[in-house]
Amino acid sequence: MTHSHQKREEQREEQREEQPHEQRQEREQPAAADTANSRRGFLTKALAVMCGGLATLVPVAAGVWAFLDPLRRGSAAATFIPVADLAAVPDDGVPRQYPVVTDRVDAWTGFAAEPVGAVYLRREQGSREVQALSATCPHAGCFVEMESTGRCFRCPCHNSSFTLDGGIVNPSPSPRRMDSLECRVGDNGTVAVKWQKFRAGVAAKEVQG
Ligand code: FES
Repeated sequence: MTHSHQKREEQREEQREEQPHEQRQEREQPAAADTANSRRGFLTKALAVMCGGLATLVPVAAGVWAFLDPLRRGSAAATFIPVADLAAVPDDGVPRQYPVVTDRVDAWTGFAAEPVGAVYLRREQGSREVQALSATCPHAGCFVEMESTGRCFRCPCHNSSFTLDGGIVNPSPSPRRMDSLECRVGDNGTVAVKWQKFRAGVAAKEVQG
């Protein structure tokens, strides 16, 4: 074997040894590219989820605020609600019952012109001054009625009795007299009461939150 022939054989042998390595490299390159692609894909998805989460959080927070808002408004200061014309309140010192009708909003829904309670209005002869009593019993919240004689109030639930100006008649289970309400008469003769609810079953007159 000549020297040149031997050299060629050695070169061929080297090429044969190198070939599997190159092929391995060719196989490994796409795998590395796949890994990089999947990493990029993961980061893109994570970013999208974060952005989507933020975009969702804003309206959700606004929704929670809107959800709580009526609850907050429910505990806000009471307003004066027109309940009658002065001419419709007889000036004979005998209380008459009038419904309290107003737009009502609970936590989720609004109700237009709904009865929310009742008041007794009373005025003396020739007076423009009107006294208002809540018809809700201070004992446990039942509806106080005028006795058929027209001389006192009585609650049918547990027999509390009250005088015509709301004073308690003992023995009565009610812990306090009937609840008076602020009342005002407008120049146009509209009688409006400050509609409030008070805690039942306690001696003190406490506005219910
Ligand atoms: S609720 Fe009126 S007496 Fe009990």
